[in-house]
Amino acid sequence: MLLELHRITKHFGGIMAVKHVCFGVEEAKITALIGPNGAGKTTIFNLITGTYQPDEGEVLLEGKTITGMKPYKTAQAGVTRTFQNLQLFGSMTVLENVMTGAYLQGKKGFVKSFLSSPERSTEEKKIRAESLKLLEEVGLAESAGLPAAVLPFGQQRLLEIARALASQPKLILLDEPAAGLNAAESEILTEYLKKLRSQGMTMIMIEHDMETVMEAADEIVVLNFGEVITQGTPAEIQAHPEVIKAYLGEDEQIA
Ligand SMILES: Nc1ncnc2c1ncn2[C@@H]1O[C@H](COP(=O)(O)OP(=O)(O)OP(=O)(O)O)[C@@H](O)[C@H]1O
Ligand SMILES: [Mg+2]
Repeated sequence: MLLELHRITKHFGGIMAVKHVCFGVEEAKITALIGPNGAGKTTIFNLITGTYQPDEGEVLLEGKTITGMKPYKTAQAGVTRTFQNLQLFGSMTVLENVMTGAYLQGKKGFVKSFLSSPERSTEEKKIRAESLKLLEEVGLAESAGLPAAVLPFGQQRLLEIARALASQPKLILLDEPAAGLNAAESEILTEYLKKLRSQGMTMIMIEHDMETVMEAADEIVVLNFGEVITQGTPAEIQAHPEVIKAYLGEDEQIA
C-alpha cells in the first residue's frame, strides 16, 4: 500500500467529522472517496496533508508515518492536492501557475530564482520546460501566457491538476475534480486521470459525480457521518444496500 490510514479520528467541537477511519491506497490506482455532503471527505484530505492534525490514528506513506507533519513536509514527502474550491493564482499566467507547483512543493530555490535573474537559472529553465510539457498533456499549452483567471472553469480544473503534478508527487488528492464540469469536460478529465494511472500515478479522488467515479475508480471507499460504511470495487459498491440507503436516505441525493 502506498498510503494507509489507521483509525484516523478528528472532531471539531461537538462534531465528529472523521471517526476511526481505516483504508489503504494502492499504488497506480484511483481510489474514490464518496459520501453525502458533510461526510468527512475533505477533512480526510486535510488530515492526510497535515492541514489538520488527527485526534487519534496514524497516516503512513510507504510504510512510514507522516502523522503530524506540516503541509509543506507532506508535500516534500510526495503528497499533493487540488482543492474543492479552486485555488489558482488568477493574475499569474497559466504557465507560472504550473511552475509554482514545482517550486512551492519544496524544490529548492523558490525565492532565489524569483529574485535573481530567473531566465539565467538552469533550474528555472528546466522547470519551465517541464511545466510546458504538462500543459501540453492537458491541452492548455496554447493558453500558457494567459492569466489563469481568464480560462474557462473546466480548463482551470485541469490547470490545477497540472500544477499538482509539477511537484512530481507520489500521490495526488483530487477534491471533486469534476465539479462544475460539463459532460464533455468530465470525459476529458476522466480520460486524463486514467492516462496518469497508466503512467503509474496514484490518486485519491473525492467525487459526487457517480459516472466519473464508476468509470475511473479501481476502489471506492464510502463514508457516512465520518465513518467508512463500506469499501470495494465499483461493481460491489453499486450493489451494496448500505450505500443505496446512505444515498437515497438523504434529502440531497448524490449524482
Ligand atoms: N474547520 C472546521 N471547523 C469546524 N467544522 C468543520 C471544519 N471542517 C469541517 N467541519 C465539519 O466536519 C464535517 C465534515 O466536513 P467535510 O468538509 O469533511 O465534508 P465533505 O464530506 O467534504 O462534504 P462536501 O461533500 O459537502 O464537501 C462537517 O460537519 C463540517 O461542517
Ligand atoms: Mg468536501
